[in-house]
Formats: sequence, C-alpha cells, structure tokens
Amino acid sequence: DDDAAAPEQVSPAGLDATPIVAIDGLEVNLDDATLPEAIDKAALASGGFPYDKKLADEPYQQTLRLLQIELLKLQSWAQEKGERIVVLFEGRDSAGKGGVIQRVTEHLSPRSVHVIALSKPSPVEAGQWYFQRYIKHLPTAGDIALFDRSWYNRGAVEPVMGFCTAEQTARFLHETPQVERLLVEDGVRLFKFWLTIGRETQVKRLHARRHDPLKRWKLSPIDYAGLNLWDAYSHAIERMLAATHTKDAPWTVVHANDKRRLRLACIRHLLLNIPYRGRDLKAIGGADERILMDADRFLH
Ligand code: ADP
Ligand code: AMP
Ligand code: MLT
Repeated sequence: DDDAAAPEQVSPAGLDATPIVAIDGLEVNLDDATLPEAIDKAALASGGFPYDKKLADEPYQQTLRLLQIELLKLQSWAQEKGERIVVLFEGRDSAGKGGVIQRVTEHLSPRSVHVIALSKPSPVEAGQWYFQRYIKHLPTAGDIALFDRSWYNRGAVEPVMGFCTAEQTARFLHETPQVERLLVEDGVRLFKFWLTIGRETQVKRLHARRHDPLKRWKLSPIDYAGLNLWDAYSHAIERMLAATHTKDAPWTVVHANDKRRLRLACIRHLLLNIPYRGRDLKAIGGADERILMDADRFLH
C-alpha cells in the first residue's frame, strides 16, 4: 500500500464545519426546515439502489417476526454449544447500523448478546496497541457481540477526518487480515457487514436528524464535517474493503437506502450462515441478491 492511494485528509479543525452541502448543483443547508424536493426524490435511487419502492410495512413486520423467532433459536443454540459470534456493522454516517442492531437484539435475552459502540479512544487507549480496546469486548463462550462501528474506524473515519496518519492506516490494513484470521482460527464466527447508502439518502437522513428531537442526539460534528467529504470517504472505503476482504473474514455488502430491506437482509444472512439447531429454512427464506452481496461483486 503506497501513500498515493491514501485518502485526502482534512484537519480536525474541519470539525467546525457548517451543515451546508453542495449536491446535485444545489447548496443544501441542513438548518433549513425543508429539504429541496430534488434531494428527497433522488434519495431512494441514489448509490445504485436496485428497487424503486421501499418495502411496505406489513410484509416487513411479518418477515421480521419470523426472523426474530429464528434468532432466538440461534441464541439458545450458541449458549448451549458455547459458540462465540461476532458481528460488526460498518457504513457511512446514517447508513442505519444502529437500526439493524436494535432489530437483532429486540427480543433476545440481554444476558448473552452485547452491543459495543465505543466512543473515541481515551488517552490511555490511544497509547495502547490499536486493536486492544476492541479485543477487550470480544465474546466469551455462548455470547454474541454486535459492534456498532469497530476497529474499521482506522480504515475510513480516522484517515478521512485526520485522526490518524496515512502510515497508521496502511499498517492497519496490513494487520487486520492477520488479526481476523487468528480470531476465526480460534473458532469465533465473524461476520462483517458494510452498509452502503447513496449520497442523497445520507443528506436526507442527516437533515431529518437535525429537525427531529428524537434523532438529534445522533448528529455529531463528524457528520457535519463529513458532508462534503463524500469522495474522500469513497476512496478510503474502497481501499479498505479491498484490503480486508479475505477468505477467512469476508465482507458482506448490503444496500441500505431502504432500512427495512436492509434489516431483513442482514438478519437473514446471519441465520443462513450459522447452523443452529431447529433452523427453519422456509421461515428464513432465500437471500435477496439485489440487496446483499459479497464484497467482490460490490467492488467489481
Ligand atoms: P457515530 O456515527 O458512530 O454515531 P460519530 O459520527 O460521532 O459517531 O463518530 C464516528 C466515529 O469516529 C466514532 O466511532 C467515534 O468514536 C470516532 N471518533 C470521533 N472522534 C475521534 C477522534 N478524535 N479520534 C478517533 N476517533 C474518533
Ligand atoms: P430513522 O431510521 O427513523 O432514523 O429515519 C431517518 C431517515 O430515514 C428519515 O429521513 C426517514 O425518512 C428515512 N427513512 C425511514 N424509513 C426508511 C426506510 N425504510 N428506507 C429508507 N429511508 C427511510
Ligand atoms: C447509523 O445508524 O448508521 C448511525 O446512526 C451512526 C451514524 O450516523 O454514523
């Protein structure tokens, strides 16, 4: 990995950015109460999303229920067998990571499923081996660990925002396949989801966040700073996926403009790839290959 491939960096001073984004020849200010209609209209199709309608609520709820029943079987099987399961969710800001995780955990026993959403490294953590603070949260026998962001911060957010050096990212991309191979060889079942959204979808969601008191807490200076760094992110993401898509620990890429299809696809993928007792393949249904794919296909 040479430095020429390193993503463009902004100084952390960029964190004072105003919420104005240039998109589709428009200047959109997230502080404005209304979003330009053109953005709203373009949102669903953006980023190569394959459907022209969102999944309706009724089939979504019905299917989700069936899948959540299967997840319960999976959880008790994991407990019984001492299986260790790690699922990490990555994606641009507002991709919907938290929403998938909520639906996975909704009906599970909280005793053996854990959500890990770490904030920025403390000074002590910053002085440790990069992976150390994540390793601490890996599951014990019987447990499921769901990572809302993960060690992959060093692949995209950190280099794009200027929180690490190009050399640190290069080392990270070199070390990660080795670290993940050790985990998998030790018997950990590791799943890596990349949630992909289009640019107009991101702007629409950040705008919605800005104006909804229940969602505003999710809005961070990172989101504002990232608004105009779409292309820098794209480069970092491509490089990261290419470097860390391995036989031991492949990436699964999921189209995420429609949150309902996203959630069903991720849960279904887990169920289809873990051989728990009593698995009901008919209830699970087949994978939607328009929505979910191996990273090789996503990268071409
Ligand atoms: P999220 O999108 O997960 O709600 P943010 O958008 O605020 O959270 O931040 C994105 C990621 O960048 C988080 O994992 C956060 O811990 C990380 N991050 C924020 N500030 C720093 C920093 N100074 N150094 C390293 N990582 C950081
Ligand atoms: P929420 O998941 O509720 O935080 O939604 C945030 C933004 O996503 C809002 O702009 C919603 O209009 C939009 N949104 C809600 N549901 C969906 C969906 N099924 N697919 C795509 N976008 C959605
Ligand atoms: C998500 O669901 O993707 C989150 O809200 C986190 C984010 O904004 O990055």
